[in-house]
Amino acid sequence: MAENKKTRKEIEKLREEIRYHDYKYYIENQPVISDKEYDALMQKLIKLEEKHPQFMAPDSPTQRVGGAPAEGFGEAKHIVPLLSLSNAFSFDDLEAFDKRVKRMLGLPPDRDIEYVSELKIDGLAINLTYENGRLVKGATRGDGFRGENVTNNLKTIHAIPLRLRGEKIPRLLEVRGEVYMLHKDFQGLNKEREKSGEPLFANPRNAAAGSVRQLDPKITAKRKLNIFTYASGEYRDGRIETHIELLELFKSLGLKVNPTTRLCKNTREVIKFCRNWTEKKKGSGYDVDGVVVKINSLRLQEKLGAVTKSPRWAIGYKFPAEQATTRIKEIIVQVGRTGALTPVAIMEPVGVGGVTVSRATLHNEDEIKKKDIRVGDRVIIQRAGDVIPYVVSAIKEERTGREKKFIFSKKCPVCGADVSRPPGEVVIRCTNISCPAQIKETIRHFTSRGAMDVEGIGDAQVEQLVEKGLIRDPADLYYLKKENLLTLERMGNKLAANILEAIEKSKERDLSRLIYALGIRHVGSHIADVLAKNYSSLDKLSKARAGELFSLPGIGPIVAKSVELFFKQEGAKKVIDKLRRAGVKLEIEKKKEAPQILVGKTFVLTGILEEFSREEASEIIKGLGGRVSISVSKKTDYIVAGKEPGSKYTRAKELGIKIIKEKEFKKLIKRS
Ligand code: IVH
Repeated sequence: MAENKKTRKEIEKLREEIRYHDYKYYIENQPVISDKEYDALMQKLIKLEEKHPQFMAPDSPTQRVGGAPAEGFGEAKHIVPLLSLSNAFSFDDLEAFDKRVKRMLGLPPDRDIEYVSELKIDGLAINLTYENGRLVKGATRGDGFRGENVTNNLKTIHAIPLRLRGEKIPRLLEVRGEVYMLHKDFQGLNKEREKSGEPLFANPRNAAAGSVRQLDPKITAKRKLNIFTYASGEYRDGRIETHIELLELFKSLGLKVNPTTRLCKNTREVIKFCRNWTEKKKGSGYDVDGVVVKINSLRLQEKLGAVTKSPRWAIGYKFPAEQATTRIKEIIVQVGRTGALTPVAIMEPVGVGGVTVSRATLHNEDEIKKKDIRVGDRVIIQRAGDVIPYVVSAIKEERTGREKKFIFSKKCPVCGADVSRPPGEVVIRCTNISCPAQIKETIRHFTSRGAMDVEGIGDAQVEQLVEKGLIRDPADLYYLKKENLLTLERMGNKLAANILEAIEKSKERDLSRLIYALGIRHVGSHIADVLAKNYSSLDKLSKARAGELFSLPGIGPIVAKSVELFFKQEGAKKVIDKLRRAGVKLEIEKKKEAPQILVGKTFVLTGILEEFSREEASEIIKGLGGRVSISVSKKTDYIVAGKEPGSKYTRAKELGIKIIKEKEFKKLIKRS
């Protein structure tokens, strides 16, 4: 027994030591021991943990690379949604933002507002959830409301602490940050990939995003990823009054904060910061695409609130876009999922902002006419951050006379059907709903990761399946036979069997994914979620009229009309019928109700539980009919006390409430 205690202490001490060195190395960039000494500590810990598995802990530094490859990522809902930013493209826009803010706050125009200027890192936004200081979840941004659960991958990033440091550990903290890759690590990675014949990443952001979304955490662990944290989601502490204080708190908790961040007294200082970094950004060693400007006072932030997707108290200043000149060789027309025809310029390849570009969108017919862009023209193209490269203008002085005006054909380039342009719209559409281009796009969307997530069906497979006439709509997927798949290029028995299995598995996806997968115009994954929750079956939803849809949260008239119209189409009815016959789940399953053994019992949770997060424990109690309260009162029936219980424990003792440990709790819920 005493021996056990000693080993446990030794293990804890080693972990503490390694955490400290991780912090010095990855957060402060000031290592105090050599790599060799560090490795020795780690080896010692690994050995001890192997010998005494009973002391294993999920947040041990040895557990950064754990877990087997995943089959796919689970969904992770964010407690507080991750907002995006509205943009400023000039200093005038920044001034206008400042004016707007003052007007909304009722402040005189000459009063200074304090802003925090932060570099806008071009990486991948993520959300980390810490419960009682332990990292319990890491997720991608997704659509802002729900992302992918990539905890095991994020744990491999050393600059993300598995445990927070210091005394002021919050009970629950959501931390937002940007995962990114340094230019030098990006180049190193691509060099290696070139050697081994793997496709190269186009830019550091794609490399970072691709690495975080790897199914095998061991691969993520090999990629050199970094993070800067810059905002909180769910977090309450009345003592913090400014954004700068929040960042200070992050630092004290051992989270990595960008050292270039500055407090600015007014917009003049903000503009100076932006101007400075427009010049300096290349030297930062990572991709920066602008500056995020945030009001420092949290009280003012709260007062301003947010519009649908972005807060009113912050703005993203984008550095002037990168431009280049090249020549248009050809203009082609692409057909999208909704039949929209988009003209695309095929150009001589040219480098812009670090990537090689050979296609740029020309948006639509009117744009081409307005800018008078012709085939053969030398043109200026622009690429800024996320935006698809586009043609800014033709350099008319360089025309030779051989340039040709582009004439939009009256027929769809893919199926030859008539195209139409409804009055008042800029988009020309193919009128044939069974146009192969539309079908391909529809099926690509249906099988994509965020939708029905059918692994093994990618662009190449969809292309061939549609070309060969094997599928005409998404429901046909569920009627494919092995011999059909075997007619595709590079398809063997094993792969075909895997694909069929993936198709079969996708029948069980949530209703909200299915609704999203149908590709109804204007219905993204968040709206699909709202629709699924409110209608609980595709049948009910398909009968809904715009008027009632419109009354749901977050659904406007355009979306409502679009949903109603979608289900009125004969084609949609057929597809749904076929899905049903194939056995695809079309409703929200009523969960088998667990025996309601805790009805009438109120629980309060305190301290750290070993096997459950608080969220999980609460879910279990509620699932069994019990209630969970955050504060202790006479009405409390049980206190579940984990390790290091807080004041609730003392209060419960005073009130003489039954206190149970994790072991008894497990018995109560029949888990042991
Ligand atoms: S704050 C409510 N700060 O930019 C505040 N975002 O367009 C929202 N980003 O999705 C985010 N650096 O991926 C913030 N210092 C920074 C940032 C930053 C990069 C990204 C982030 C976000 C996007 C917003």
